Amino acid sequence: MYDNWEELEKSIENCNRCRLCTNRKNIVFGVGNKEAKVMFIGEGPGADEDIQGIPFVGKAGQLMNKCFEGIGINREDVYIANIVKCRPPSNRVPEQDEADACLNYLRNQVILVKPKIIVLLGSTALKNILGKEYGITSARGKWVENKSILYMPTWHPAALLRDENKKIEFWRDLKEVKKKMEQ
Ligand code: URA
Repeated sequence: MYDNWEELEKSIENCNRCRLCTNRKNIVFGVGNKEAKVMFIGEGPGADEDIQGIPFVGKAGQLMNKCFEGIGINREDVYIANIVKCRPPSNRVPEQDEADACLNYLRNQVILVKPKIIVLLGSTALKNILGKEYGITSARGKWVENKSILYMPTWHPAALLRDENKKIEFWRDLKEVKKKMEQ
């Protein structure tokens, strides 16, 4: 583990810890306030993120941004990262060995940001951070406290594009997060 961002970012530059390095255009490391109170964790970069090197800039990210705006969460105030930093082919779910190979980078990001709240976006983030025994359908919307961090599991923004009900629940979960941010 590195105790500063420069060394951590340098350590990932030529990462070849898993097969996802083969086709990547850019490593999507993370973006936002490095001293954020709230961190958002997604699954892995899609095509747009791979091209730009920034998480959540595609369709799902734009929808998430709209929700942020509506609720009054400033994207610049939070830190956003993913379970895997390189795009899985055809946007498939990362294989477990890929997630495992990448997770230490994320753990190091969490150590450096020191967030009070972590929002887990979808099943991949939930299972890799809180454990395989969790399921997103039953866990979403409920706070989980672990080692002084409050976790809010919620839907992945891509799921909202297909299901209006999930959008309502996502909105409700983010409002909870906003409320907690202000406490
Ligand atoms: N989906 C994710 O999980 N992460 C991104 O950065 C973009 C889409």
